[in-house]
Amino acid sequence: MESMNKSIFIPRETIEKRVKELGEQISRDYAESELIIVGVLKGAFIFMADLIRALSIPCRVDFARLASYGSGAASSGKVIMTKDIETSIRGRDILIVEDIVDTGLTLKFLVDWFRERNPRSLKVCAFLDKQGRRKVPFEADYVGFSVDDAFVIGYGLDFDEKGRFLPDVYIVE
Ligand code: XMP
Ligand code: MG
Repeated sequence: MESMNKSIFIPRETIEKRVKELGEQISRDYAESELIIVGVLKGAFIFMADLIRALSIPCRVDFARLASYGSGAASSGKVIMTKDIETSIRGRDILIVEDIVDTGLTLKFLVDWFRERNPRSLKVCAFLDKQGRRKVPFEADYVGFSVDDAFVIGYGLDFDEKGRFLPDVYIVE
């Protein structure tokens, strides 16, 4: 971490303001429903914790964990689920919360996985979106910030498990 070259990309005040806006928007959109929020481990844990506290509606939470074969910065192609949620979602309103959409492979997999259980609705909220890097078409319903093709860490996101704890988002050079 100490040796990593990084420059600040999104300061914490900007994150806080955007998360508040997302919380207000989601609260309006789900005002009439009992929302279940599914966080994708590990990257989404900080964003999710802030987001649910920015809601003015009650929600339930659960977590899933996915892995993609290979290593390095991005998904290699084949996605597997290593921890499923423990909540029944049939007929319920589900919001998946993820740290970042990159190739789109992870969220495409997860959305298809949950859709088979027939939720009433299924949407995705991503803290960051690297739209230019999709390998499969995928659009998140709520997005915090767009990112160009750069590797980012902080606010839950890591580089080789380093940097998740940082309160701001950095670009790693
Ligand atoms: P896909 O490609 O399936 O991948 O959309 C999403 C996952 O890839 C990881 N990822 C990153 N993690 N900084 C990170 O810390 C990044 O810039 C980055 N880009 C992709 C992340 O695990 C995400 O869930
Ligand atoms: Mg992730």
